[in-house]
Amino acid sequence: MAQTADQPRVLIFDTTLRDGEQSPGATMTHEEKLEIAGLLDEMGVDIIEAGFPIASEGDFAAVSEIARRSKNSTICGLARANFKDIDRCWEAVKHAKSPRIHTFIGTSPLHRAIPNLTMDEMAERIHETVTHARNLCDNVQWSPMDATRTEHDYLCRVVEIAIKAGATTINIPDTVGYTYPFESAKLIAMLLERVPGADKITFATHCHNDLGMATANSLAAVEAGARQIECTINGLGERAGNTALEEVVMALRVRNDILPYRTQIDTTKIMHLSRRVSTVSGFVVQPNKAIVGKNAFLHESGIHQDGVLKNVETFEIMKPADIGLNEKNIAMGKHSGRAALRSKLKELGYELADNQLNDVFVRFKALADRKKEVYDEDLLALVADEQTNDAHEHLQLKKLRVVCGTEGPQEADMILTIDGVDHHIDATGDGPVDAAFNCVKMLFPHKARLQVYQVAAVTEGTDAQATVSVRLEEDGRLVTGSSADTDTIVASTKAYINALNRLIVRRQKTAPNDDVKTITYHGE
Ligand code: KIV
Ligand code: ZN
Repeated sequence: MAQTADQPRVLIFDTTLRDGEQSPGATMTHEEKLEIAGLLDEMGVDIIEAGFPIASEGDFAAVSEIARRSKNSTICGLARANFKDIDRCWEAVKHAKSPRIHTFIGTSPLHRAIPNLTMDEMAERIHETVTHARNLCDNVQWSPMDATRTEHDYLCRVVEIAIKAGATTINIPDTVGYTYPFESAKLIAMLLERVPGADKITFATHCHNDLGMATANSLAAVEAGARQIECTINGLGERAGNTALEEVVMALRVRNDILPYRTQIDTTKIMHLSRRVSTVSGFVVQPNKAIVGKNAFLHESGIHQDGVLKNVETFEIMKPADIGLNEKNIAMGKHSGRAALRSKLKELGYELADNQLNDVFVRFKALADRKKEVYDEDLLALVADEQTNDAHEHLQLKKLRVVCGTEGPQEADMILTIDGVDHHIDATGDGPVDAAFNCVKMLFPHKARLQVYQVAAVTEGTDAQATVSVRLEEDGRLVTGSSADTDTIVASTKAYINALNRLIVRRQKTAPNDDVKTITYHGE
């Protein structure tokens, strides 16, 4: 049923797995996509945009499997404005209990010029493709890409054509993050007023964050009558990203006095999803990020701390528990047993199989021996590392010793297991990380270039674990690896090896330059 402007319910459309995954380096594995889709479904996301089925065999397989496994959410796939894309999209989403086809074309003057279509030709193409999609599926979304830079008269004309051809949702994308809140609201109001049939369909808002206004623009569109917000976890997405799911959902909850609209999102699942998306995409969440940043609920200044101790509402507009953040933060001590670990992990959103729990338990004990206090964040980093760095990978770090300090050159001595066989080597480098990476390169020669090397401390203190994320590029294929350890050099080396393991899988599955999305928005 359409969510029209006269209703108070706002649909949440999550595109982490399509628009989010499109950000260079954020590529996720098949299993990771299934896991994230499962979590989104459990959280109450109304529509999951699971991918772009024509883009690659991998995208197609992921969308089909997500569709098959979906429980509550509608599963949507993206398709350009041609029959081949739309047919392929339908083949993937049709397995869902509730499938949707999302087809789009760039309607602004700049985008019309690329396929070199006149206004009339493009209008005809929209009529044909939306009609085709609607003949396959009774839930069709249509988007005029770059809508915020499209002439108003033409936008009204093409939206009317799409509605007449059977589109049930019309999405108005601010593709380049160009609009601002007042204008965003006026655009939706203008369409609702001028387009015949607009009151019978759902308007969606899809905002990019190039000027930092995506969330505000989305909410302004809702005030004007949009009833579907398109967003991603952590605001993941190309360039400056998209509207962040956690921001719009919490804003609608906290400011319900002036934004009297509701979603069906279980907000207590937000933190877990944010952490998982950060781990699998390799995109570290900035500490001061709204809602899910590490500092979002920390109070540093004396005045703030004093106020919070007297009345928490003086400086907090929402509770950490609202997003699933546990306040009693010290997790466990070195005497805690397996059952306590299992129950703690369950509380944090993880239900592990027995063998995985055993592995995490061994690592937890080792960590508790090295570290004074083991926090929730430490456990989360351990589990994430366990899930990312599978024991059956081609390359595994068996042993590492480094010599570092003021007197160079720094040295590393390593045993790397390659397909079950141990190889020993030592190398020097410009610093211990460089020396360790040189060992890996000598034992496993490759031409991947290091694009990103990022280190973050999981908790405070000099004994804190470090999480390291490494992005590599080889022939246009981008992969991200991550790892955590109290030893920063070990974490760095394992993150590098994790990225190489992903590269090996990627080489087998995709042609060179596949990540540089050889598919174009206008190509057939
Ligand atoms: O930003 C955009 O315009 C898009 C479309 C494909 C909807 O992501
Ligand atoms: Zn987009």
